[in-house]
Amino acid sequence: MSELEKIAIEKAKEAVYLDRQGSREAAIARYKEAIQILSRLISLTQSPVLHEVYRERMRQYLERLNELSDGTPVRTVVRQSTNREELQIEPFKSNIKWSDVIGLEDAKRIIREAIVYPCLRPDLFPLGWPTGILLFGPPGCGKTLLVAAAANEVNATLYTLDAATVLSKWLGESEKNIATLFSKARNEASTGNPVVIFIDEADSLTAQRYLEVGGEARARNQLLKEMDGLANKNKKEYLYVIAATNKPWLLDEAFIRRFQKRIYVGPPDTETRLQILKHYTASLKLSEDVDLEALANMTANYSPADLYNICLDAHISTIREMFENRLEEPRKISMSDFITAIEKRKPSISGELITRLREWEQRYEAV
Ligand SMILES: Nc1ncnc2c1ncn2[C@@H]1O[C@H](COP(=O)(O)OP(=O)(O)OP(=O)(O)O)[C@@H](O)[C@H]1O
Ligand SMILES: [Mg+2]
Repeated sequence: MSELEKIAIEKAKEAVYLDRQGSREAAIARYKEAIQILSRLISLTQSPVLHEVYRERMRQYLERLNELSDGTPVRTVVRQSTNREELQIEPFKSNIKWSDVIGLEDAKRIIREAIVYPCLRPDLFPLGWPTGILLFGPPGCGKTLLVAAAANEVNATLYTLDAATVLSKWLGESEKNIATLFSKARNEASTGNPVVIFIDEADSLTAQRYLEVGGEARARNQLLKEMDGLANKNKKEYLYVIAATNKPWLLDEAFIRRFQKRIYVGPPDTETRLQILKHYTASLKLSEDVDLEALANMTANYSPADLYNICLDAHISTIREMFENRLEEPRKISMSDFITAIEKRKPSISGELITRLREWEQRYEAV
């Protein structure tokens, strides 16, 4: 598999090189070969992220191949393609509030201490403050939500950097993309505005296996370099890098060490599940027989995201019924609607996953 990936990258590199040299026919041949190998990789890979990355690359090579075969003059196209290579990362402001994040009290406190306090009273932090935070935990338990809430509280600009954005660009551009993003973020932070760079699915960006495949190793090294730049204690800027992963064991030591805070964002206990169910049913019409406590008890291993979807499914079933039976209004949601929704949805969290995360926590947690 990784052999095949290497060959694909070789072919693509040659194609891009020949393309830039203006050797149309040779470039076409290489692009075709790269596309063939990529399609094979797509059929072999299990990872949805890699799947996306391969597909996107294949799409770009195909597009280029078509342009070349159409006889578009090489020079102009190369210039166009340079534009296309530019990283399209748009910052955004979040409107998630802390009260939208249920449970996770420890994680909230640690993040507030690291981000909110220094922004309010920088004078109290002569030694600087932590700028790298790694959140790890099972899927759907609030990692992304926490980052959005923290960014919102200090009115920070949020840039999301995920594997699909960075790696799906033309080969060899990944590290440039990262450098561009950080320089944009640094510029903005230098005006005093807080900026958060959020590395989602950090495992797919920095995983060990990428060390072997050229472009991504350079991307990872660039990332490490940029993060070292942030650690400068004399610079009092509010530029944070927050990374999230649900497979922290795929991260390499050098990357892990760059994060001063490493926080476990764990699954909800029964009481928290009850709070979450209350939160998501607050605006719904429930019938008398709905017992949220009982539902909380029967949803061990369900993540907050699962619980949200269960509420949604239960609600939608009443809406569907309304339309099918041409009623004026949907009926109230009953206990059996919830139970059906639970039965139809497998929990996202498993005992093995938690054990594995706990083991990693023992070794690496830093709060
Ligand atoms: N602690 C929570 N309180 C309330 N809602 C939550 C919580 N955690 C997750 N959710 C719900 O689940 C959705 C997904 O959560 P989020 O994206 O934060 O998960 P995640 O931990 O980042 O998962 P992944 O590892 O899959 O990226 C949220 O948009 C929200 O609706
Ligand atoms: Mg997430």
